[in-house]
Amino acid sequence: MLKNNQELKILAKTLFGLENVLVEELQAMGVSDIKPLNRAVEFSGSLSTVYKANLHLRTALKILVPIKTFKARDQHALYDGIKQIQWSDYLNVNSSFIIKPIVNSKFFNHSKFTAQKAKDAIVDQLRDDLGNRPSISNEDPDLFIDLHISEDKVTVSLDSSGMPLNQRAYRKSGGEAPLNEVLAAGMILLSKWDGKSNFIDPMCGSGTLLIEAAMIASNQAPNILRKEFAFIRWANFDKKLWIQILNDAKIGQAIPDKKAVKIIGSDISISKLDIAQRNISEAGYSRLISLRNKPFDKFIPPAGNGILVFNPPYGERLKVKQIEGLYTSIGDSLKEKWKNYEAWILSSNFDALKYIGLKPDVKIKLFNGKLECRYQNFPIFEGKRADFVEKKIDTRE
Ligand SMILES: C[S@@+](CC[C@H](N)C(=O)[O-])C[C@H]1O[C@@H](n2cnc3c(N)ncnc32)[C@H](O)[C@@H]1O
Repeated sequence: MLKNNQELKILAKTLFGLENVLVEELQAMGVSDIKPLNRAVEFSGSLSTVYKANLHLRTALKILVPIKTFKARDQHALYDGIKQIQWSDYLNVNSSFIIKPIVNSKFFNHSKFTAQKAKDAIVDQLRDDLGNRPSISNEDPDLFIDLHISEDKVTVSLDSSGMPLNQRAYRKSGGEAPLNEVLAAGMILLSKWDGKSNFIDPMCGSGTLLIEAAMIASNQAPNILRKEFAFIRWANFDKKLWIQILNDAKIGQAIPDKKAVKIIGSDISISKLDIAQRNISEAGYSRLISLRNKPFDKFIPPAGNGILVFNPPYGERLKVKQIEGLYTSIGDSLKEKWKNYEAWILSSNFDALKYIGLKPDVKIKLFNGKLECRYQNFPIFEGKRADFVEKKIDTRE
């Protein structure tokens, strides 16, 4: 098994477009050898780093610890390579495991079949060595094994997270199409909101952005409420170290100054607000987050300055005219009422985004599930845009 002070190569998986935000989070954690990859970031650390990464990283989906890489171009080479790992270090005859395959290779066509081959290699080895075999459990395995095949490069990793880390344990109810929590946290971190000014989601749905914003403003570890992490069932689990890491995280929490920071959500739908309220209360933020039941064009901005971050409906259930009208009215309201704010809007409807009628300063490609989206920043300014741009350059100099 991995030793507690062993130097490990660790991989944090994330969503497309959030790699650089994750790099910044890892830099803030003080880890070394950080290398951004495609939808992942590699770094070095110890088991303590693995525990902390699971608890603290807002934009990580999984924390993997690779234990072997090898080349394979057919099922026999795959079987032999997997059999070279000393599986009794990680499993015994009473334990159960699951293999999650991700296969992108011309040599292996069926990911289920490759997982089956890998499973056979593990089971055969342990039956030979220990006289009996561990079982497979899809629901509640003791060990999550990640099998990644890219062309002929096979990487076998221990998955220290288990269920993806966006499952923070505050979502009691989703409603329709809630944002993935990792995407929501990534959107806020991309906006560079510092947790010290107002944060508004005027189309808040189930409240994901509001809760992630409250956690950022309170310096709360995103997974502090979560009880299940795969590493807790590893043979070498260091409970004392984990409790220390949890306690340090609790000590690091801060109560934001409610006079300077208002976190407010609103939605046109009362049933969505009920869902948001339940999730907010589960997350422990009923005092910090307030909710309103207003359409965006009737929402009066709170005094002070800040940021709006939201994903309006993309239009799947609306007629083209309605969606154009909605995005036009979003732009009109922003220009008319939100002069001390900047807006960040995520949408997969690129035509509708044009109806906002403001020129975005930043456009970032992200995916909401399978939907390709643009995440756009609209600074809101009085007078002509040219004056604003000049002023902005002045302030930066
Ligand atoms: C795509 S959902 C937002 C999902 C949310 N980010 C979440 O994580 O659950 C869009 C939301 O906008 C709300 N909405 C639509 N038109 C609105 C309007 N004019 N004013 C306020 N809310 C509106 C809908 O009720 C819906 O909850």
